[in-house]
Amino acid sequence: MDLIKDIDILSAEEAQVCDFKTTEDHSTGKQKKVYIESYGCQMNFSDSEIVASIMKENGYDTTSDLKKADVVFLNTCSIREKAEQTVRNRLTHFNGLKRFKPGMTIGILGCMAERLKEKLLEEEKIVDLVVGPDAYRDLPNLVATAEEGLKAINTFLSREETYGDISPLRLNSNGVSAFISIMRGCDNMCSFCVVPFTRGRERSRDPESILAEARDLWSKGYKEVTLLGQNVDSYKWSPEENNKARLNKKGENISQVIHFAHLLEMVAQVSPQLRVRFSTSHPKDITDEVLYTIKKYDNICKYIHLPVQSGSDRVLELMNRTYDRAWYMDRVLAIREILGEECGISSDMIAGFCSETEEEHQDTLSLMEQVKYDFSYMFYYSERPGTLAAKKYADDIPLETKKRRLAEIIEKQSQIAFDRNRLDLGKEQIILIDGTSKKSIADLKGRNSANKVVIVSGADLKLGDYVRVKIKECSPATLFGEVLEINPSQI
Ligand code: SAH
Ligand code: SF4
Ligand code: F3S
Repeated sequence: MDLIKDIDILSAEEAQVCDFKTTEDHSTGKQKKVYIESYGCQMNFSDSEIVASIMKENGYDTTSDLKKADVVFLNTCSIREKAEQTVRNRLTHFNGLKRFKPGMTIGILGCMAERLKEKLLEEEKIVDLVVGPDAYRDLPNLVATAEEGLKAINTFLSREETYGDISPLRLNSNGVSAFISIMRGCDNMCSFCVVPFTRGRERSRDPESILAEARDLWSKGYKEVTLLGQNVDSYKWSPEENNKARLNKKGENISQVIHFAHLLEMVAQVSPQLRVRFSTSHPKDITDEVLYTIKKYDNICKYIHLPVQSGSDRVLELMNRTYDRAWYMDRVLAIREILGEECGISSDMIAGFCSETEEEHQDTLSLMEQVKYDFSYMFYYSERPGTLAAKKYADDIPLETKKRRLAEIIEKQSQIAFDRNRLDLGKEQIILIDGTSKKSIADLKGRNSANKVVIVSGADLKLGDYVRVKIKECSPATLFGEVLEINPSQI
């Protein structure tokens, strides 16, 4: 095998946020069919599974065939301008389709629906309904209204909605890994970010419903769950007052509050053979307690997505990230001390934020060197209307410069990832098989604890197997392993 050909350099275009997936067929003999296309982050993909479940209860099967659909949903993302443009282009494509099927209902869900509200109905004539992320329980009513030929909209943002009682209909599932949403919204006001406006206030989901979902997945044969939230470290649930802690006169907390470390522990106890992952961690909130919980359980994966955004203190301040470089490095050192060198660390980086100088860009590159990220999602700054940065700072870095800085960041990441992967050569690791290799269907792929993709060959391997492998070769994006043992007792 020529390994050099396997070198995969992650570009911003390939990152998770530009991806989309269509729903697979879940036919239970229902008359009507819904087709869902999802864009953006994992939370959006996870929401599409809630939407599919709500629609199923109301007489709709999902389909992957657009032509068979009575209802088409685009679950959209607003994080960068390009994400919104992709959806606009898709709508142009649907124009042709609707000419053949005039009765088809087209709905925009998710963050773009929330951001643009009625404007979407005005600007995109083809759209029949617009539904924000907290209004999915209302979908059956809204679809019924649209089917009568009227436009329908609900962009109400809730302080309580977590869809905790809804059992998601798993879409495009490999039957091995699933996502569990543990909280919604975001209360951080990073100045570049549209999420607090599109997803509303932060709220945590009842831990019992999270555990019930994890147990159900385990009983159905799933081997890995990823706990999802924009900022999982600020997960906080108490029985009183809609998730607010009860305080006594001295201001002391007297209700039992569940924080992220405790939740993580409870999910890890569902089964020692169920792998637990989580995303996203915020550098200002990740505690040593969380790190010790990760260390304590073999089935909690040793991998932390800890987006830094920039390596410059001044830029971090402008971004309102509420930590500086020294704080961030302290958290990285804590990870290294508690979880060791092998713990995977990944990041998000924004190139060319408002007024960023060449020197500050160099600070980002030097921070990357210092941390040695295994992986990063890398973007150039895209101004989002209504955000603090759009109001306060000029988007003054020329596009050419943003792109060049991004290319330098991508290049740096690729070198560092290659170095990090080389450290794995000769090591024994446990991977969980979750699919076939992109390059050759004869090979299978799995992930090690640090979230790195490991390619293996072996006729007797199947999805969901834990495999002890020895790492033989690597590229910047992938490890290649030799199978030593299938389903070892210890994961
Ligand atoms: N809650 C997560 C991030 C969610 S958005 C966190 O705080 O880390 C995912 C990533 O998109 C962000 O980390 C950031 O790197 C990027 N992003 C967000 N807004 C952006 C913008 N306006 N332009 C470019 N990238 C952006
Ligand atoms: Fe956006 Fe910041 Fe919230 Fe992440 S923490 S979703 S970047 S506002
Ligand atoms: Fe996009 Fe909304 Fe997620 S803006 S990144 S889909 S929270």
